[in-house]
Amino acid sequence: MKTYLDQLAIFGGTTAFEKKLHVGRPNIGDHTRLLDRIENAINRRWLTNNGPYVQEFEARLAEFTGAKHVIVMSNATIALEIVSRALGLSGEVIVPSFTFIATAHALQWQEITPVFCDIDPKTHNIDPSKVEASITPRTSGIVGVHVWGRPCDVDALQKIGQHHGLKIIYDAAHAFGCTHKGRMIGNSGDAEVFSFHATKFFNSFEGGAVATNDDELAQKIRLMKNFGFAGTDNVIYIGTNGKMHEITAAMGLTSLESVDTFLATNYRNYKLYQEGLSDLPGIQLLQYNEDEKNNYQYIVVEVDEVQTGISRDDLVKILWSENVLARRYFYPGCHQAEPYRSYYPHARLLLPETEKLTQRVLVLPNGTAVGAAEISMICQIMRLAVERGPEVVLKLQV
Ligand SMILES: Cc1ncc(COP(=O)(O)O)c(C=O)c1O
Repeated sequence: MKTYLDQLAIFGGTTAFEKKLHVGRPNIGDHTRLLDRIENAINRRWLTNNGPYVQEFEARLAEFTGAKHVIVMSNATIALEIVSRALGLSGEVIVPSFTFIATAHALQWQEITPVFCDIDPKTHNIDPSKVEASITPRTSGIVGVHVWGRPCDVDALQKIGQHHGLKIIYDAAHAFGCTHKGRMIGNSGDAEVFSFHATKFFNSFEGGAVATNDDELAQKIRLMKNFGFAGTDNVIYIGTNGKMHEITAAMGLTSLESVDTFLATNYRNYKLYQEGLSDLPGIQLLQYNEDEKNNYQYIVVEVDEVQTGISRDDLVKILWSENVLARRYFYPGCHQAEPYRSYYPHARLLLPETEKLTQRVLVLPNGTAVGAAEISMICQIMRLAVERGPEVVLKLQV
């Protein structure tokens, strides 16, 4: 197979990178600390059911976020399911379609209808001015998603929620370590949900957590994630199994010890991409507000095909041919995935901004697995693709 650079006679016959560069390659903290913790857990023979590492992880996360309660779970999807059930959501819930499918599935799984709302093209987050128009007598809540870790318009959503008596959950899967108006994410709405999946900059292999300042809600969520057990032989709610186990919590604790390094690496890389992609017509790197804390984990580029002369999808093809596994996000949008595509075939007409953005966005590799030289090369490939793309892109087979 001819690579892109090969066709431009820049490198003869090899890819720019020997090894594949992935988006979401896991960051891993101190191996020795992790293995010691795992050994301790095994020696203790307390492997799950609210073990000491889970308790310590929850306490550390509460300290880190400033939230009164942080309840860890097996993943963010189950956390979203549990929190929406604990809040009594039913009927319809307003969500963006520009999100990972789990945001919608967590509702639909409980036969709650996700009503897709369009986004603000500047922020990529749910557009509060369009939320009001989606409210019906069946609406019970709103799930805002802090896409790329950049917070939703929390104040506007809060006002709408209060005015219409709606519950508000934030899917903060991307937003661990970020702030909104100087306050750590984890303190807004009725609850916020983090993901610690391996692809997130801060991971516990799999994992998630609900953060809330509501005592009663926290208590209910704790029961629900453990089958509804309020004590031995005493089940007082319908519940499920959302428990995190000790090995996962050991990874979470170890990741937390390195979180500053992960953040610093992401920030350094973001600045390198900013420099490398500046002045590239039609290529717009998503900017983070540096007055806030950001985790900088997503390097997001919007491709304007009219200006670049090359489509986002062809750019992705070129990058893949060089072993840069850039990803389209959140392509094609939840409303275009089953079962929603069949349930609401006309949804796309109500989501023009979502439709446009899913055709423009690509995400580049970041994290501790990517270095300065690699970023410089990725930016050079993109520059070449924009300058010379149409010459060879049609011949490229990947
Ligand atoms: C926005 C969003 N919500 C929810 C999830 C689900 O998280 P988990 O994989 O921990 O269930 C993800 C995971 O990628 C996500 O990006």
